[in-house]
Amino acid sequence: MPSFQRHVFVCINERAADHPKGCCKAKGGVEVRDALKKELKARGISKIVRANNSGCLDQCEHGVSVVVYPEQVWYGHVTVDDIPEIVDKHLVGGEVVDRLLQPDQPHLADNASFPKLDTSKAK
Ligand code: FES
Repeated sequence: MPSFQRHVFVCINERAADHPKGCCKAKGGVEVRDALKKELKARGISKIVRANNSGCLDQCEHGVSVVVYPEQVWYGHVTVDDIPEIVDKHLVGGEVVDRLLQPDQPHLADNASFPKLDTSKAK
């Protein structure tokens, strides 16, 4: 049984082009997911940080939506270019990427930080 220290869900939900809510797929969700998976693999941490597809996370206006567990940290308007920073700062370093936070996360204290990734268990 794999022992993941963090789980990252990337919305790749698709809706019709004329749907009023839009969708994360049209905003690059698949590309964000692929970039995240590639980055985790390149750093040798894909066995301890899991990247998963997600359906709609009900934060469509902030898409591409990404949520990290166990911290319940929600990022919005995520692009491929943001992936190295999310991996470095949050997934490895345990520090929230403030500039990408979605609004209304009352469980998060200011300057929230979490345990660093234990890379000794990456192999
Ligand atoms: S379509 Fe991605 S959060 Fe709804």
